[in-house]
Amino acid sequence: MKVIRTKNYQEMSKMAAEFILNKINSSSKLTLGLATGGTPVQTYHYLAQDYREHQTSYQHVTTFNLDEYIGLAKSDPNSYHYYMDKHFFSKVNIPTNQTFIPNGLAENLEMECYEYDELIKKHHGIDLQILGLGKNGHVGFNEPGTAFDQHTHIVELTNSTIQANARFFNDINQVPKRAITMGIGSIMESKEILLLVSGTEKNEALNKLLHGEIDEQFPASILNQHENVTIIADEDAIINTNL
Ligand code: PGA
Repeated sequence: MKVIRTKNYQEMSKMAAEFILNKINSSSKLTLGLATGGTPVQTYHYLAQDYREHQTSYQHVTTFNLDEYIGLAKSDPNSYHYYMDKHFFSKVNIPTNQTFIPNGLAENLEMECYEYDELIKKHHGIDLQILGLGKNGHVGFNEPGTAFDQHTHIVELTNSTIQANARFFNDINQVPKRAITMGIGSIMESKEILLLVSGTEKNEALNKLLHGEIDEQFPASILNQHENVTIIADEDAIINTNL
């Protein structure tokens, strides 16, 4: 895994946006895997700013998001549909029918998972997957103990994730307990991965990722077996990792 050090969150986000823009500009067709959460927010803002200034076109880009809560409508401000629209999709010229996010309100959730994987396959897989890193090593909503070969599936969120995500809700009891997530298997099939890590609260997780064992109890550890991973991390995340 290649690690790029940056001074702070802003610089990490700028580098990530440049990394993504480079792919967009150098491909005639591109399938991006996208993440939500606090980490990529500023990256999306830089992409939106680039669009305002340079009109970089997204007409040839298709996106697949990693995950969505079960039970939240697309219009719910805490849904990842809402997040993506607010921070990114509404700010660039990507056609709506080229943006995919699991439907957490699907009547048949198992079928939704199956069809999501089929759709990714139909698009010949993901060219570049953006990831954040959970404090407990989760990627997407793949919590510790998730089998490394799983594809899109339904998960019960752990208390640690519910607590971490409660900051976006009025009340911790409003945080959904289940989600649909692309699996580790789906993520590992991406041709390239860009992992963004920022802040002291991610320090231990980054250290474990770089120096720990590959273990299903720490889902991100499997990224060590992927041949094309770039980590962009800021100083706060890097301290004490021997980098
Ligand atoms: P965060 O979440 O970006 O909100 O810190 C990362 C993750 O949980 O995957």
